[in-house]
Amino acid sequence: MIDTAREWLTEARHVCVLTGAGMSAESGIPTFRDALTGLWSRFDPAQLASEDGFRANPALVWDWYAQRRDGVRRAQPNAGHLALAAFAKRHPGRLTVVTQNVDDLHQRAGVADTIRLHGDILEDRWLTPCPKRPACDPGSADPGTPPSCTACGNLLRPGVVWFGEMLPPQALDAAEQAAVQCELMLVVGTSGAVWPAAGLAGAARRAGAFVVIVNPHPSEIDGEAHAVLRGSAATVLPELLRGL
Ligand code: OAD
Repeated sequence: MIDTAREWLTEARHVCVLTGAGMSAESGIPTFRDALTGLWSRFDPAQLASEDGFRANPALVWDWYAQRRDGVRRAQPNAGHLALAAFAKRHPGRLTVVTQNVDDLHQRAGVADTIRLHGDILEDRWLTPCPKRPACDPGSADPGTPPSCTACGNLLRPGVVWFGEMLPPQALDAAEQAAVQCELMLVVGTSGAVWPAAGLAGAARRAGAFVVIVNPHPSEIDGEAHAVLRGSAATVLPELLRGL
C-alpha cells in the first residue's frame, strides 16, 4: 500500500496535507479524543474550549490553556513534521500543509506557510472587540488569570477557535482551494470528527484527488480514502516521503 501511495505522490503536481492532533502526538502533545490519553477523555470540552466556558470560569480556562501552551513550547517537531518540511523544501510550491492543530510544530519544522484552521495557542486576543481606536495592545494587558485591560476591563483569551465559533474565513478558503486543486491529499492524525476540517478529504476526493490516510486507528473519514496507512505520523511519513 505504501508503494502505491509513493507512486501517487510522485505523480501529483500538488499535494495537500491535512493534519490533526495525531501529527503532534509523538512530540508529546496530547490529542483530544484518544481514549484515556486524549484531553477530552478527562475534561469536558464545552466547559473549557468554549466562550461560555471561559466566561463562566475565566481563571480555570486561562490556566488550562497556559498549561497546554507550556507543553507546546517544550515540544519539538517530530520525524513526521521534519519529513513533510524536507519534502516541501525539495519541491517548492508543491506541498500545502493545512492543520487543525494550534501548536506551531509544522512552522518550527520549516513549513512557515502552514494554513491554521483552528488558530494559534501561542496567540492571545481580546475576549470582546476593543472599543478604543487604535485598539488596546493585548501585549500591554495587566497580568492576571486571565490578563485584563486596565483601561477598559477587557479580558485576554487564547487565539484559538472554540466550540461553536467560526473558523478564520481566509484560512478555511485557502484550505478548501488547496483541497480541490491537489492531485493527492494526505490526511494525517485526525479522527475526522470536527467539521468543516473533516470535510476537506471528501472535497479533495470529489475533485479527483487520491486520498491517503495515515493513522494508527480507524477514523470517521476512512471511507474517503483510496489508501489507509495504519501507522503513526513519525514512522509512516519518513518512509512515505523518503527520496521523493
Ligand atoms: P483527535 O484527538 O480527535 O484525533 C486524533 C487522531 O490522531 C485519532 O484519529 C488518533 O487515532 C490519531 N493518532 C493518535 N496518535 C497518532 C500518531 N502518533 N500518528 C498519527 N495519528 C495518531 O484530534 P483531531 O482530529 O485533530 O478543535 O481533532 C480535531 C479538532 O477537535 C481539534 O482541532 C480541536 C478538537 O476540538 C479545535 O481546537 C477547534
